[in-house]
Amino acid sequence: MDAPRRNVELKARDGDPEATLAAALRHGAADQGILRQKDTYFAARDGRLKLREEDDGATLIAYARADEATARTSAYHLVPVPDPHALATALDAALGTVVVVKKFRRLLLWEDVRIHLDAVEGLGTWVELEAVAPAGSDLTDEHRKVAELRAVLDMQDEDVVATGYAAMLLAQGAATDRMVSLARTAMDRAYAPYSHFHVGVALRDEAGALHFGANVENGAFPQGACAEAAAIGALVTAGGHRIEEAVVMADTELIVPCGGCRQRLSEFASADTPIHLAGPEGVRRTVTLGDLLPYAFDLEESQK
Ligand code: THU
Repeated sequence: MDAPRRNVELKARDGDPEATLAAALRHGAADQGILRQKDTYFAARDGRLKLREEDDGATLIAYARADEATARTSAYHLVPVPDPHALATALDAALGTVVVVKKFRRLLLWEDVRIHLDAVEGLGTWVELEAVAPAGSDLTDEHRKVAELRAVLDMQDEDVVATGYAAMLLAQGAATDRMVSLARTAMDRAYAPYSHFHVGVALRDEAGALHFGANVENGAFPQGACAEAAAIGALVTAGGHRIEEAVVMADTELIVPCGGCRQRLSEFASADTPIHLAGPEGVRRTVTLGDLLPYAFDLEESQK
């Protein structure tokens, strides 16, 4: 297998792309023009997987990168794709599509560093540096070049971000509608002949994969299980580790997870994880797990 390529990256909000462009040109960067890019992200278990479509061709990009608000290393593989539509269909069927990111990217080159001035649909304008590393590099040079350009382009600490565009769009609710339909499917399939109260839950995990579950009751009443338990079971079984977002749905004024399920969710989620309380038509209120379960029990914390 080929070793991955590596680069050192830094991404920041850019309130003034024209000033950034002028500063880059003054510093000797060469303008390569504007590219139109459509990135489709798939639910990969290890690292990230996206299909990049540009006007002159398509590339499958598999990469691993830490979510840190500093210059960070990315290790990646690039595979040319002759038939992007067929590949997208196959990967969607096998893994599921997480989100689509569309952007216009002005590319500039300065000493093997790619400078990206991005206008991203739904996210605004950004500047990104990518110092591409030759094989065997200890990355010192790449970090030095990124630091130099960071100063030249005036990228401030408060503008530097830890995540990528896909994660930002997901945090803005890009997957919520699909989660609502999954929760509705689950709710319609609930087995609740005793309470007649049908609940559906959809969860998004750290890879972007979606999971769902319904409540399943039992004639021996205590053996019944909540929809949250079923959905969490599906997430864990599929290889997921974290809950990034949840939809809980029932056909009642405002469904709220029961106390036990708040604790169940908190095993895999954080205080700031959004929980959408939904009816069949959609989200009625969005709260965080911290709103639902303040002072959550945490075994590790309790043993300190
Ligand atoms: N139920 C859930 O599935 N999740 C909740 O958060 C609240 C309650 C189910 C359990 C039982 O099957 C029915 O709703 C009535 O309590």
